[in-house]
Amino acid sequence: MSVGETGVAMLMSVRMAPPLPLMFLILIHGVSSAEWGVSYRLSHICALKDSSVIMSCTYTYPTGYEIRKVFWTKNPVHGEEPPDLSEDPEYSQRLQYLGDEQKNCTIRLSHVTQKDSHMYCFRFTTNVTDGKWKGYPGVTLTVTDLQVESSETVTEGDSVRLTCKSSCALTDRATFIWYRNSQPLTERRDRNNQLLLQSVRREDAGRYSCALQEHTYISPAAQLNVTYPPKNVSVSISPSGEIVEGDSVTLICSSDSNPPAEISWFKGGMIVGSGRIYSISNISSDHSGEYKCKSKNKHGEKYSETVTLNVMYPPRNVSVLINGPAEIVEGDSVTLICSSDSNPPALNFSWFKENQSSSVGSGQSFSAQQSGRFYCEAHNQHGSQRSDAVSVTVKGRLVILYISIGVVSGASVIITVLLILRSRGKRIKDNLETQC
Ligand SMILES: *[C@@H]1O[C@H](CO)[C@@H](O)[C@H](O)[C@H]1NC(C)=O
Ligand SMILES: *[C@@H]1O[C@H](CO)[C@@H](O)[C@H](O)[C@H]1NC(C)=O
Ligand SMILES: *[C@@H]1O[C@H](CO)[C@@H](O)[C@H](O)[C@H]1NC(C)=O
Ligand SMILES: *[C@@H]1O[C@H](CO)[C@@H](O)[C@H](O)[C@H]1NC(C)=O
Repeated sequence: MSVGETGVAMLMSVRMAPPLPLMFLILIHGVSSAEWGVSYRLSHICALKDSSVIMSCTYTYPTGYEIRKVFWTKNPVHGEEPPDLSEDPEYSQRLQYLGDEQKNCTIRLSHVTQKDSHMYCFRFTTNVTDGKWKGYPGVTLTVTDLQVESSETVTEGDSVRLTCKSSCALTDRATFIWYRNSQPLTERRDRNNQLLLQSVRREDAGRYSCALQEHTYISPAAQLNVTYPPKNVSVSISPSGEIVEGDSVTLICSSDSNPPAEISWFKGGMIVGSGRIYSISNISSDHSGEYKCKSKNKHGEKYSETVTLNVMYPPRNVSVLINGPAEIVEGDSVTLICSSDSNPPALNFSWFKENQSSSVGSGQSFSAQQSGRFYCEAHNQHGSQRSDAVSVTVKGRLVILYISIGVVSGASVIITVLLILRSRGKRIKDNLETQC
């Protein structure tokens, strides 16, 4: 400071000298040359919703005055006596004056909301009518909430960055914390207000929110969707047990995918249906076979394992075939073959001679004139069926030689049973001669 400037300052102070009594006081104490003033440590505060805000403040006034009233006000209007905020019901419970009646005018406002975003000024009055002061401009308070910003949908394997946004730069440089589905996340924090998810997995999907450490306020949650191709494609059959012709059967294709997959059904290599559920009512053996489903979305497709539908049914198409002459004489034999189609294969067959109640068996012999009609009957656990009868004309005695079961296996389930008949009657020469 130059000498000249000091001189001007002294001159000014002489010209603006207070009235005599005050001058007297100054002389008595002989200390302070303090001016009227209020200073705020921060002129702008950006605070998080629900937090407590401390507005640090000091004030000065010339020596000799006695402080009468200290208070804070908001949005002061020039020329109007500002109201005391502590008498405002919206503030009275939340406002705490931490200062004193000498120089400290710090205040705390708790549980701030966006409605508290105003300019706040400190005001004090003294024992002298004109000895009052308003610290203008004051502290501009902006209250912000937090919003999670992120892309809504991310594909598995990509990375995504979530940002915790506030409408102003927070004055309190506290650490951000993140939650997924209300569970705090401990890792992968990027920069201060960002969360970087690298190579996103399905488990990363969820509702994300953010907060500041040691603050109660938590942002609204933002949903993060993770899309991925179909996985775990499988078929289940209902009912799960044995399937019998006539049953209603449902095949269900389960798959895990996002977005949901389109399902198609295959039997062998042929498409037979679409949709998650494939229903067959009144199932028949034609429905037996290998099935699988395909699950497809825009990220890929996947087939299930094949499942086998094995439809059970009682014997049908039971018939007898004659292998040999229809008319047999002594020494000839004829074979009757009984075939049947059933699932499971019929292993239980009976042979009957028409109009005879009991079945015929191996080694059984019949007296003369045994010509007759024979039929067979096939059984499995689902039922039985008899064949039409076939006529065998016999000259002489008839002996059942042999009954055996032969399985002709393959694609169709057919079982064959042999009945071999042999005539043991006397040869009739006339007949022989006639035949020759
Ligand atoms: C004012 O008072 C507050 C609360 O008691 C205190 O934290 C702060 O340090 C004081 N400020 C000054 C400048 O003395
Ligand atoms: C899906 O398959 C994975 C393995 O590929 C397995 O770890 C997971 O448990 C399966 N999820 C379901 C719901 O079956
Ligand atoms: C089931 O199918 C069989 C043959 O395909 C048919 O004869 C029968 O009437 C059907 N039953 C019902 C209830 O539709
Ligand atoms: C078997 O009995 C039926 C009536 O029950 C009769 O019509 C038929 O002629 C008889 N067949 C023989 C071979 O006796």
